[in-house]
Amino acid sequence: MVNHMAGENPFHDPLRFERKVPECAVVIFGANGDLTKRKLMPALYRLAFERRLSPGFAVIGISRTPMSDDQFREKMRESVQKFLEDSPFDENVWSSFAQGLFYMAGNVDDAKCYTDLKQCLEGVEKQRRTGGNVLFYLSTQPSQYGPTATGLGVVGLNKGDGWRRLVVEKPFGHDLASSRELSTTLHKVFVEEDLYRIDHYLGKETVQNILALRFGNGIFEPLWNRRYISHVQITAAESIGVEGRGAYYQEAGALRDMIQNHLLQVMATVTMEPSASFQPNSVRDERSKLLRSVRVMRPDEVARYAVAGQYGPARLGGENVPGFRQEQGVDPQSQTDTYAAATFFIDNWRWAKVPFYIRSGKRLPKRVSEISIQFHEAPHAVFGNGFAEKAIPNLLILRIQPEEGVSLKFLSKRPGTGMTLRPVSMDFNYGSSFGERSPSAYETLLLDAITGDATLYTRQDMVEASWAVVEPILEVWQTSRFNFPNYAAGSWGPTASDVMLAQHGHVWRKP
Ligand code: BG6
Repeated sequence: MVNHMAGENPFHDPLRFERKVPECAVVIFGANGDLTKRKLMPALYRLAFERRLSPGFAVIGISRTPMSDDQFREKMRESVQKFLEDSPFDENVWSSFAQGLFYMAGNVDDAKCYTDLKQCLEGVEKQRRTGGNVLFYLSTQPSQYGPTATGLGVVGLNKGDGWRRLVVEKPFGHDLASSRELSTTLHKVFVEEDLYRIDHYLGKETVQNILALRFGNGIFEPLWNRRYISHVQITAAESIGVEGRGAYYQEAGALRDMIQNHLLQVMATVTMEPSASFQPNSVRDERSKLLRSVRVMRPDEVARYAVAGQYGPARLGGENVPGFRQEQGVDPQSQTDTYAAATFFIDNWRWAKVPFYIRSGKRLPKRVSEISIQFHEAPHAVFGNGFAEKAIPNLLILRIQPEEGVSLKFLSKRPGTGMTLRPVSMDFNYGSSFGERSPSAYETLLLDAITGDATLYTRQDMVEASWAVVEPILEVWQTSRFNFPNYAAGSWGPTASDVMLAQHGHVWRKP
Protein backbone atom coordinates (compact mmCIF):
# COMPACT_ATOMS: atom_id res chain seq x y z
CA MET A 1 0.00 0.00 0.00
CA VAL A 2 1.45 3.32 -1.04
CA ASN A 3 0.78 6.23 1.26
CA HIS A 4 0.02 9.57 -0.27
CA MET A 5 -0.06 12.82 1.56
CA ALA A 6 -3.57 14.12 2.14
CA GLY A 7 -4.91 15.90 -0.91
CA GLU A 8 -2.13 14.73 -3.19
CA ASN A 9 -3.34 12.98 -6.31
CA PRO A 10 -0.84 10.30 -7.25
CA PHE A 11 -1.85 10.42 -10.92
CA HIS A 12 -1.18 14.10 -11.35
CA ASP A 13 2.23 15.14 -12.46
CA PRO A 14 2.26 18.87 -11.73
CA LEU A 15 4.80 19.46 -14.45
CA ARG A 16 2.55 18.28 -17.27
CA PHE A 17 -1.03 18.31 -16.08
CA GLU A 18 -1.45 21.23 -13.75
CA ARG A 19 0.84 23.56 -15.51
CA LYS A 20 0.13 27.21 -15.76
CA VAL A 21 -0.07 28.39 -19.33
CA PRO A 22 1.83 31.65 -19.74
CA GLU A 23 0.72 34.47 -22.00
CA CYS A 24 2.65 34.50 -25.26
CA ALA A 25 2.69 35.24 -28.97
CA VAL A 26 3.22 32.47 -31.49
CA VAL A 27 4.89 33.62 -34.70
CA ILE A 28 4.28 31.18 -37.55
CA PHE A 29 6.60 31.36 -40.55
CA GLY A 30 4.83 29.64 -43.45
CA ALA A 31 1.37 30.79 -42.32
CA ASN A 32 -0.13 30.26 -45.75
CA GLY A 33 1.12 26.68 -45.93
CA ASP A 34 -0.63 23.39 -45.60
CA LEU A 35 0.60 22.58 -42.10
CA THR A 36 -0.75 25.84 -40.68
CA LYS A 37 -4.15 25.23 -42.22
CA ARG A 38 -4.48 21.54 -41.51
CA LYS A 39 -2.75 21.15 -38.16
CA LEU A 40 -1.46 24.24 -36.37
CA MET A 41 -4.50 26.50 -36.52
CA PRO A 42 -7.07 23.79 -35.69
CA ALA A 43 -4.83 22.75 -32.76
CA LEU A 44 -4.54 26.32 -31.44
CA TYR A 45 -8.25 26.93 -31.86
CA ARG A 46 -8.97 23.71 -30.00
CA LEU A 47 -6.67 24.76 -27.14
CA ALA A 48 -8.61 28.02 -26.99
CA PHE A 49 -11.87 26.05 -26.93
CA GLU A 50 -10.56 24.04 -23.99
CA ARG A 51 -9.59 27.30 -22.24
CA ARG A 52 -5.97 26.17 -22.19
CA LEU A 53 -4.58 29.43 -23.62
CA SER A 54 -4.04 32.63 -21.70
CA PRO A 55 -6.52 35.45 -22.43
CA GLY A 56 -3.86 37.57 -24.13
CA PHE A 57 -2.74 34.82 -26.48
CA ALA A 58 -1.72 36.04 -29.95
CA VAL A 59 -0.61 34.56 -33.27
CA ILE A 60 1.32 36.41 -35.95
CA GLY A 61 1.23 34.61 -39.28
CA ILE A 62 3.94 35.37 -41.81
CA SER A 63 4.18 34.38 -45.44
CA ARG A 64 4.81 36.07 -48.75
CA THR A 65 1.21 36.54 -49.88
CA PRO A 66 -0.13 40.02 -49.10
CA MET A 67 -3.20 39.81 -46.85
CA SER A 68 -4.87 41.92 -44.20
CA ASP A 69 -5.42 40.66 -40.64
CA ASP A 70 -9.09 40.21 -41.47
CA GLN A 71 -8.38 38.24 -44.63
CA PHE A 72 -6.01 36.02 -42.66
CA ARG A 73 -8.65 35.50 -39.97
CA GLU A 74 -11.21 34.55 -42.58
CA LYS A 75 -8.83 32.11 -44.23
CA MET A 76 -8.00 30.52 -40.89
CA ARG A 77 -11.65 30.25 -39.98
CA GLU A 78 -12.28 28.27 -43.19
CA SER A 79 -9.34 25.99 -42.44
CA VAL A 80 -10.35 25.40 -38.85
CA GLN A 81 -13.91 24.58 -39.86
CA LYS A 82 -12.66 22.22 -42.53
CA PHE A 83 -9.90 20.44 -40.61
CA LEU A 84 -11.27 20.37 -37.09
CA GLU A 85 -11.80 16.68 -37.19
CA ASP A 86 -13.78 15.51 -34.21
CA SER A 87 -14.83 18.59 -32.32
CA PRO A 88 -17.43 21.31 -32.69
CA PHE A 89 -16.80 24.77 -34.10
CA ASP A 90 -18.00 27.39 -31.65
CA GLU A 91 -18.65 30.89 -33.02
CA ASN A 92 -18.07 32.61 -29.68
CA VAL A 93 -14.79 30.88 -29.02
CA TRP A 94 -13.69 31.58 -32.58
CA SER A 95 -14.48 35.29 -32.46
CA SER A 96 -12.52 35.83 -29.27
CA PHE A 97 -9.65 33.63 -30.55
CA ALA A 98 -9.64 35.44 -33.92
CA GLN A 99 -9.08 38.80 -32.23
CA GLY A 100 -5.63 37.52 -31.32
CA LEU A 101 -4.72 36.60 -34.92
CA PHE A 102 -2.50 38.97 -36.89
CA TYR A 103 -0.81 38.74 -40.24
CA MET A 104 2.30 40.15 -41.76
CA ALA A 105 3.45 39.68 -45.37
CA GLY A 106 7.17 39.08 -45.48
CA ASN A 107 9.91 37.34 -47.37
CA VAL A 108 12.20 35.50 -44.98
CA ASP A 109 15.14 36.04 -47.34
CA ASP A 110 14.77 39.79 -46.93
CA ALA A 111 16.23 41.63 -43.90
CA LYS A 112 13.19 43.92 -43.89
CA CYS A 113 11.00 40.99 -42.83
CA TYR A 114 12.71 40.88 -39.44
CA THR A 115 12.63 44.61 -38.74
CA ASP A 116 8.94 44.59 -39.74
CA LEU A 117 8.34 41.63 -37.45
CA LYS A 118 10.05 43.36 -34.57
CA GLN A 119 7.76 46.32 -34.96
CA CYS A 120 4.69 44.16 -35.42
CA LEU A 121 5.54 42.15 -32.29
CA GLU A 122 5.94 45.31 -30.24
CA GLY A 123 2.46 46.41 -31.29
CA VAL A 124 0.92 43.01 -30.59
CA GLU A 125 2.66 42.77 -27.22
CA LYS A 126 1.20 46.09 -26.18
CA GLN A 127 -2.26 45.28 -27.42
CA ARG A 128 -2.46 41.71 -26.08
CA ARG A 129 -0.03 41.91 -23.15
CA THR A 130 1.91 38.81 -24.14
CA GLY A 131 4.65 39.59 -21.62
CA GLY A 132 7.48 39.44 -24.17
CA ASN A 133 7.15 35.63 -24.47
CA VAL A 134 7.45 34.45 -28.06
CA LEU A 135 7.31 31.03 -29.65
CA PHE A 136 8.68 31.14 -33.19
CA TYR A 137 7.42 28.29 -35.35
CA LEU A 138 9.28 27.39 -38.55
CA SER A 139 6.93 25.76 -41.00
CA THR A 140 8.61 26.96 -44.20
CA GLN A 141 10.80 25.22 -46.76
CA PRO A 142 13.58 23.48 -44.76
CA SER A 143 16.21 25.48 -46.68
CA GLN A 144 14.81 28.59 -44.97
CA TYR A 145 15.18 27.35 -41.37
CA GLY A 146 18.77 28.54 -41.00
CA PRO A 147 18.32 31.93 -42.68
CA THR A 148 15.13 32.64 -40.70
CA ALA A 149 16.75 31.92 -37.35
CA THR A 150 19.74 34.02 -38.35
CA GLY A 151 17.42 36.85 -39.41
CA LEU A 152 15.71 36.76 -36.00
CA GLY A 153 19.11 36.94 -34.34
CA VAL A 154 20.25 39.93 -36.40
CA VAL A 155 17.42 42.10 -35.08
CA GLY A 156 17.75 40.65 -31.57
CA LEU A 157 14.38 38.88 -31.57
CA ASN A 158 15.96 35.75 -30.10
CA LYS A 159 16.14 37.61 -26.79
CA GLY A 160 13.68 39.82 -24.97
CA ASP A 161 11.86 40.54 -21.75
CA GLY A 162 10.18 37.15 -21.73
CA TRP A 163 11.27 33.74 -23.03
CA ARG A 164 11.99 33.04 -26.70
CA ARG A 165 11.73 29.54 -28.16
CA LEU A 166 12.08 28.14 -31.66
CA VAL A 167 10.01 25.21 -32.93
CA VAL A 168 11.44 23.54 -36.02
CA GLU A 169 9.33 21.28 -38.23
CA LYS A 170 10.73 18.21 -39.88
CA PRO A 171 12.78 17.38 -41.86
CA PHE A 172 15.64 18.30 -39.58
CA GLY A 173 18.41 17.99 -42.16
CA HIS A 174 18.67 15.70 -45.14
CA ASP A 175 21.42 13.52 -43.66
CA LEU A 176 23.73 13.50 -40.66
CA ALA A 177 26.04 16.24 -41.91
CA SER A 178 23.25 18.67 -42.87
CA SER A 179 21.42 17.99 -39.61
CA ARG A 180 24.59 18.85 -37.68
CA GLU A 181 25.13 21.93 -39.79
CA LEU A 182 21.58 23.09 -39.14
CA SER A 183 22.00 22.65 -35.37
CA THR A 184 25.22 24.67 -35.51
CA THR A 185 23.47 27.48 -37.38
CA LEU A 186 20.49 27.51 -35.01
CA HIS A 187 22.73 27.38 -31.93
CA LYS A 188 24.27 30.68 -32.95
CA VAL A 189 20.88 32.21 -32.22
CA PHE A 190 19.04 29.86 -29.84
CA VAL A 191 20.56 27.63 -27.17
CA GLU A 192 19.64 23.95 -27.35
CA GLU A 193 17.20 24.29 -24.40
CA ASP A 194 15.17 26.78 -26.44
CA LEU A 195 15.14 24.65 -29.59
CA TYR A 196 12.07 22.46 -30.01
CA ARG A 197 12.49 19.96 -32.87
CA ILE A 198 9.03 18.59 -33.47
CA ASP A 199 8.24 14.95 -34.20
CA HIS A 200 4.47 14.75 -34.18
CA TYR A 201 4.45 10.98 -33.59
CA LEU A 202 5.78 11.58 -30.08
CA GLY A 203 2.76 13.79 -29.39
CA LYS A 204 0.23 11.11 -30.34
CA GLU A 205 -1.72 9.85 -27.33
CA THR A 206 -1.05 6.24 -28.23
CA VAL A 207 2.69 6.81 -28.47
CA GLN A 208 2.67 8.53 -25.08
CA ASN A 209 0.65 5.59 -23.81
CA ILE A 210 3.57 3.28 -24.53
CA LEU A 211 5.33 4.91 -21.58
CA ALA A 212 2.20 4.63 -19.42
CA LEU A 213 1.78 0.96 -20.33
CA ARG A 214 5.41 0.10 -19.69
CA PHE A 215 6.20 2.19 -16.65
CA GLY A 216 2.80 2.67 -15.01
CA ASN A 217 2.26 -1.08 -14.66
CA GLY A 218 4.21 -3.84 -13.02
CA ILE A 219 3.26 -6.74 -15.27
CA PHE A 220 4.83 -5.82 -18.60
CA GLU A 221 8.37 -4.78 -17.74
CA PRO A 222 9.52 -8.16 -16.44
CA LEU A 223 8.67 -9.63 -19.87
CA TRP A 224 10.08 -6.71 -21.81
CA ASN A 225 13.37 -8.18 -22.95
CA ARG A 226 15.13 -10.73 -25.12
CA ARG A 227 14.24 -13.68 -22.88
CA TYR A 228 10.51 -13.36 -23.59
CA ILE A 229 10.27 -11.30 -26.77
CA SER A 230 11.07 -12.97 -30.07
CA HIS A 231 10.88 -9.87 -32.25
CA VAL A 232 9.02 -6.60 -32.75
CA GLN A 233 7.31 -5.23 -35.85
CA ILE A 234 6.57 -1.54 -36.27
CA THR A 235 4.31 -0.62 -39.16
CA ALA A 236 3.14 2.76 -40.42
CA ALA A 237 1.08 2.09 -43.51
CA GLU A 238 -0.74 4.74 -45.51
CA SER A 239 -3.30 4.14 -48.23
CA ILE A 240 -2.84 7.60 -49.74
CA GLY A 241 -0.20 8.42 -52.33
CA VAL A 242 1.94 11.56 -52.22
CA GLU A 243 -1.07 13.92 -52.41
CA GLY A 244 0.44 16.79 -54.35
CA ARG A 245 3.72 16.63 -52.39
CA GLY A 246 5.52 14.79 -55.22
CA ALA A 247 8.34 17.33 -55.49
CA TYR A 248 9.17 17.20 -51.76
CA TYR A 249 8.67 13.48 -51.50
CA GLN A 250 10.86 12.70 -54.48
CA GLU A 251 13.80 14.22 -52.60
CA ALA A 252 12.87 12.60 -49.29
CA GLY A 253 11.55 9.06 -49.79
CA ALA A 254 9.93 6.83 -47.18
CA LEU A 255 13.07 6.08 -45.17
CA ARG A 256 13.74 9.78 -44.56
CA ASP A 257 10.10 10.83 -44.38
CA MET A 258 8.92 8.30 -41.79
CA ILE A 259 11.61 5.95 -40.47
CA GLN A 260 14.50 8.30 -39.67
CA ASN A 261 12.26 10.37 -37.41
CA HIS A 262 8.83 9.04 -36.43
CA LEU A 263 9.40 5.30 -36.38
CA LEU A 264 12.85 5.32 -34.81
CA GLN A 265 11.41 7.53 -32.08
CA VAL A 266 8.57 5.05 -31.63
CA MET A 267 11.09 2.22 -31.46
CA ALA A 268 13.07 4.14 -28.85
CA THR A 269 9.88 4.62 -26.81
CA VAL A 270 9.19 0.88 -26.90
CA THR A 271 12.73 -0.12 -26.01
CA MET A 272 14.32 2.60 -23.85
CA GLU A 273 15.17 1.96 -20.22
CA PRO A 274 12.79 3.42 -17.63
CA SER A 275 13.80 6.95 -16.78
CA ALA A 276 14.27 7.85 -13.13
CA SER A 277 11.64 10.61 -13.39
CA PHE A 278 9.33 12.19 -15.94
CA GLN A 279 11.48 15.29 -16.22
CA PRO A 280 12.15 16.24 -19.86
CA ASN A 281 15.85 15.53 -19.89
CA SER A 282 15.54 12.38 -17.85
CA VAL A 283 13.20 10.89 -20.48
CA ARG A 284 15.20 12.29 -23.39
CA ASP A 285 18.47 10.92 -22.03
CA GLU A 286 17.00 7.41 -22.13
CA ARG A 287 15.64 7.82 -25.65
CA SER A 288 18.98 9.13 -26.77
CA LYS A 289 20.93 6.33 -25.12
CA LEU A 290 18.73 3.80 -26.85
CA LEU A 291 19.10 5.40 -30.28
CA ARG A 292 22.84 5.39 -29.82
CA SER A 293 22.70 1.64 -29.15
CA VAL A 294 21.05 0.80 -32.47
CA ARG A 295 23.55 -1.08 -34.59
CA VAL A 296 24.71 0.89 -37.61
CA MET A 297 24.73 -1.37 -40.67
CA ARG A 298 27.84 -1.91 -42.73
CA PRO A 299 27.30 -1.09 -46.42
CA ASP A 300 27.54 -4.79 -47.31
CA GLU A 301 24.68 -5.57 -44.88
CA VAL A 302 22.22 -3.14 -46.40
CA ALA A 303 20.91 -5.52 -49.08
CA ARG A 304 20.13 -8.08 -46.38
CA TYR A 305 18.62 -5.76 -43.78
CA ALA A 306 16.83 -3.06 -45.77
CA VAL A 307 14.29 -3.04 -48.58
CA ALA A 308 13.24 -0.21 -50.85
CA GLY A 309 9.99 -0.18 -52.78
CA GLN A 310 8.09 2.08 -55.11
CA TYR A 311 4.45 1.70 -56.07
CA GLY A 312 3.29 1.21 -59.61
CA PRO A 313 -0.14 1.93 -61.10
CA ALA A 314 -3.11 -0.24 -60.22
CA ARG A 315 -6.85 -0.40 -60.56
CA LEU A 316 -8.34 0.04 -57.12
CA GLY A 317 -12.00 0.16 -56.21
CA GLY A 318 -12.97 0.76 -59.84
CA GLU A 319 -10.48 3.60 -60.23
CA ASN A 320 -7.16 3.83 -62.01
CA VAL A 321 -4.52 4.81 -59.48
CA PRO A 322 -1.34 6.24 -60.99
CA GLY A 323 2.07 4.88 -60.07
CA PHE A 324 4.51 7.15 -58.20
CA ARG A 325 6.38 7.94 -61.42
CA GLN A 326 3.15 9.24 -62.94
CA GLU A 327 2.44 11.61 -60.02
CA GLN A 328 2.70 15.35 -60.55
CA GLY A 329 6.20 16.76 -60.03
CA VAL A 330 7.82 13.31 -60.06
CA ASP A 331 10.58 12.26 -62.45
CA PRO A 332 9.26 9.42 -64.68
CA GLN A 333 12.52 7.54 -63.96
CA SER A 334 12.44 8.30 -60.22
CA GLN A 335 14.45 5.98 -57.95
CA THR A 336 12.74 7.29 -54.79
CA ASP A 337 11.47 4.79 -52.21
CA THR A 338 7.77 5.11 -51.43
CA TYR A 339 8.13 2.02 -49.22
CA ALA A 340 10.99 1.28 -46.91
CA ALA A 341 11.57 -1.58 -44.50
CA ALA A 342 14.56 -2.34 -42.33
CA THR A 343 15.74 -4.78 -39.70
CA PHE A 344 17.44 -3.11 -36.76
CA PHE A 345 19.28 -4.63 -33.83
CA ILE A 346 19.82 -2.92 -30.52
CA ASP A 347 23.20 -3.76 -29.10
CA ASN A 348 22.51 -3.70 -25.41
CA TRP A 349 21.93 -6.24 -22.64
CA ARG A 350 18.13 -6.11 -22.82
CA TRP A 351 17.70 -6.46 -26.58
CA ALA A 352 20.73 -8.37 -27.90
CA LYS A 353 19.84 -10.37 -31.05
CA VAL A 354 16.12 -9.36 -31.07
CA PRO A 355 15.19 -8.17 -34.57
CA PHE A 356 13.15 -4.98 -34.84
CA TYR A 357 11.39 -4.85 -38.20
CA ILE A 358 10.22 -1.43 -39.26
CA ARG A 359 8.22 -0.64 -42.38
CA SER A 360 6.39 2.29 -43.84
CA GLY A 361 4.87 2.94 -47.21
CA LYS A 362 2.46 4.93 -49.30
CA ARG A 363 -0.39 3.31 -51.22
CA LEU A 364 -0.55 0.23 -49.02
CA PRO A 365 -3.95 -1.46 -48.50
CA LYS A 366 -4.97 0.67 -45.50
CA ARG A 367 -3.97 3.41 -43.10
CA VAL A 368 -2.74 1.68 -40.01
CA SER A 369 0.11 2.23 -37.58
CA GLU A 370 0.89 -0.35 -34.95
CA ILE A 371 3.59 -2.00 -32.92
CA SER A 372 3.36 -5.74 -32.69
CA ILE A 373 5.41 -7.42 -29.99
CA GLN A 374 5.78 -11.12 -30.58
CA PHE A 375 6.64 -13.35 -27.63
CA HIS A 376 8.52 -16.65 -27.75
CA GLU A 377 6.49 -19.82 -28.12
CA ALA A 378 5.70 -21.97 -25.08
CA PRO A 379 8.85 -24.03 -24.53
CA HIS A 380 7.14 -27.41 -24.44
CA ALA A 381 4.02 -28.73 -26.20
CA VAL A 382 2.08 -30.07 -23.19
CA PHE A 383 -1.02 -30.74 -25.28
CA GLY A 384 0.92 -32.42 -28.07
CA ASN A 385 1.29 -31.07 -31.55
CA GLY A 386 -1.70 -30.01 -33.58
CA PHE A 387 -3.82 -29.09 -30.53
CA ALA A 388 -4.46 -25.59 -31.78
CA GLU A 389 -6.94 -24.93 -34.59
CA LYS A 390 -4.64 -22.22 -35.79
CA ALA A 391 -1.25 -21.63 -34.24
CA ILE A 392 -0.58 -18.02 -33.40
CA PRO A 393 2.22 -16.66 -31.31
CA ASN A 394 1.42 -14.54 -28.25
CA LEU A 395 1.24 -11.00 -29.50
CA LEU A 396 0.88 -7.68 -27.74
CA ILE A 397 -0.34 -5.16 -30.25
CA LEU A 398 -0.16 -1.45 -29.54
CA ARG A 399 -2.47 0.22 -32.05
CA ILE A 400 -1.30 3.76 -32.73
CA GLN A 401 -4.03 4.56 -35.25
CA PRO A 402 -6.83 4.07 -36.11
CA GLU A 403 -8.88 2.09 -33.51
CA GLU A 404 -6.37 3.26 -30.90
CA GLY A 405 -5.83 0.68 -28.21
CA VAL A 406 -3.96 -2.39 -27.05
CA SER A 407 -4.67 -6.07 -27.73
CA LEU A 408 -3.17 -9.20 -26.29
CA LYS A 409 -3.52 -12.33 -28.42
CA PHE A 410 -3.25 -15.73 -26.82
CA LEU A 411 -4.64 -19.26 -27.10
CA SER A 412 -7.66 -20.34 -25.14
CA LYS A 413 -9.53 -23.60 -24.70
CA ARG A 414 -12.40 -23.93 -27.07
CA PRO A 415 -15.63 -24.95 -25.31
CA GLY A 416 -16.15 -28.69 -25.68
CA THR A 417 -15.13 -31.99 -24.19
CA GLY A 418 -11.81 -32.22 -26.01
CA MET A 419 -8.75 -30.03 -25.53
CA THR A 420 -8.65 -27.83 -28.60
CA LEU A 421 -7.21 -24.37 -28.43
CA ARG A 422 -8.17 -21.32 -30.38
CA PRO A 423 -6.63 -17.84 -30.64
CA VAL A 424 -8.52 -15.14 -28.72
CA SER A 425 -7.88 -11.49 -28.04
CA MET A 426 -8.10 -9.31 -24.96
CA ASP A 427 -8.75 -5.79 -26.09
CA PHE A 428 -8.49 -2.30 -24.68
CA ASN A 429 -10.00 0.39 -26.85
CA TYR A 430 -9.33 4.05 -26.14
CA GLY A 431 -12.63 5.31 -27.49
CA SER A 432 -14.91 2.99 -25.55
CA SER A 433 -12.84 2.91 -22.35
CA PHE A 434 -12.49 6.64 -21.87
CA GLY A 435 -15.38 7.92 -23.95
CA GLU A 436 -13.65 11.22 -24.44
CA ARG A 437 -11.79 12.87 -27.21
CA SER A 438 -8.00 12.63 -27.35
CA PRO A 439 -6.10 15.81 -28.15
CA SER A 440 -4.32 15.85 -31.50
CA ALA A 441 -0.53 15.52 -31.46
CA TYR A 442 -0.19 19.19 -32.40
CA GLU A 443 -2.40 20.32 -29.52
CA THR A 444 -0.21 18.45 -27.05
CA LEU A 445 3.04 19.56 -28.60
CA LEU A 446 2.11 23.24 -29.01
CA LEU A 447 0.97 23.43 -25.42
CA ASP A 448 4.18 21.71 -24.32
CA ALA A 449 6.30 24.24 -26.19
CA ILE A 450 4.31 27.15 -24.72
CA THR A 451 4.77 25.80 -21.22
CA GLY A 452 8.43 24.98 -21.86
CA ASP A 453 8.14 21.21 -21.57
CA ALA A 454 10.47 19.52 -24.08
CA THR A 455 9.85 15.90 -23.03
CA LEU A 456 8.19 15.03 -26.34
CA TYR A 457 10.56 17.04 -28.51
CA THR A 458 13.73 15.62 -30.01
CA ARG A 459 17.16 16.81 -29.01
CA GLN A 460 20.25 17.23 -31.15
CA ASP A 461 21.89 14.00 -29.93
CA MET A 462 18.71 12.00 -30.66
CA VAL A 463 18.29 13.39 -34.16
CA GLU A 464 21.92 12.77 -34.99
CA ALA A 465 21.82 9.23 -33.63
CA SER A 466 18.85 8.40 -35.84
CA TRP A 467 20.49 9.94 -38.90
CA ALA A 468 23.58 7.81 -38.19
CA VAL A 469 21.37 4.71 -38.17
CA VAL A 470 19.72 5.33 -41.55
CA GLU A 471 22.69 6.90 -43.28
CA PRO A 472 24.41 3.71 -44.53
CA ILE A 473 21.08 2.62 -46.05
CA LEU A 474 20.59 5.99 -47.73
CA GLU A 475 24.13 5.90 -49.09
CA VAL A 476 23.82 2.42 -50.58
CA TRP A 477 20.41 3.21 -52.04
CA GLN A 478 21.68 6.38 -53.61
CA THR A 479 24.11 4.46 -55.76
CA SER A 480 21.75 1.54 -56.47
CA ARG A 481 19.62 1.15 -59.57
CA PHE A 482 16.29 -0.32 -58.48
CA ASN A 483 13.94 -2.15 -60.71
CA PHE A 484 11.02 0.10 -59.78
CA PRO A 485 8.05 -0.06 -59.54
CA ASN A 486 8.20 -3.23 -57.44
CA TYR A 487 4.79 -3.21 -55.76
CA ALA A 488 1.34 -2.39 -57.04
CA ALA A 489 -0.61 0.42 -55.40
CA GLY A 490 -2.93 -1.20 -52.85
CA SER A 491 -0.64 -4.13 -52.04
CA TRP A 492 1.48 -4.77 -48.92
CA GLY A 493 4.78 -3.77 -50.56
CA PRO A 494 7.56 -5.61 -52.39
CA THR A 495 8.11 -9.35 -51.86
CA ALA A 496 11.74 -8.61 -50.94
CA SER A 497 10.35 -7.30 -47.64
CA ASP A 498 8.85 -10.73 -46.84
CA VAL A 499 12.15 -12.33 -47.78
CA MET A 500 13.94 -10.02 -45.32
CA LEU A 501 11.87 -11.43 -42.44
CA ALA A 502 11.96 -15.00 -43.73
CA GLN A 503 15.74 -15.10 -43.12
CA HIS A 504 14.90 -15.22 -39.43
CA GLY A 505 11.84 -17.43 -39.87
CA HIS A 506 9.43 -14.50 -39.30
CA VAL A 507 6.49 -13.12 -41.29
CA TRP A 508 4.92 -9.67 -41.40
CA ARG A 509 1.65 -9.40 -39.58
CA LYS A 510 -1.23 -8.26 -41.78
CA PRO A 511 -2.86 -5.63 -39.57
C1 BG6 B 1 4.52 13.20 -42.05
C2 BG6 B 1 5.03 12.73 -43.38
O1 BG6 B 1 5.58 13.52 -41.21
O2 BG6 B 1 3.75 12.18 -41.46
C3 BG6 B 1 3.88 12.34 -44.28
O3 BG6 B 1 5.79 13.75 -44.00
C4 BG6 B 1 2.99 11.33 -43.61
O4 BG6 B 1 4.34 11.82 -45.53
C5 BG6 B 1 2.60 11.82 -42.21
O5 BG6 B 1 1.82 11.19 -44.40
C6 BG6 B 1 1.88 10.73 -41.46
O6 BG6 B 1 1.38 11.26 -40.26
P1 BG6 B 1 0.06 10.65 -39.58
O7 BG6 B 1 -0.06 11.41 -38.32
O8 BG6 B 1 -1.05 10.87 -40.55
O9 BG6 B 1 0.35 9.19 -39.40
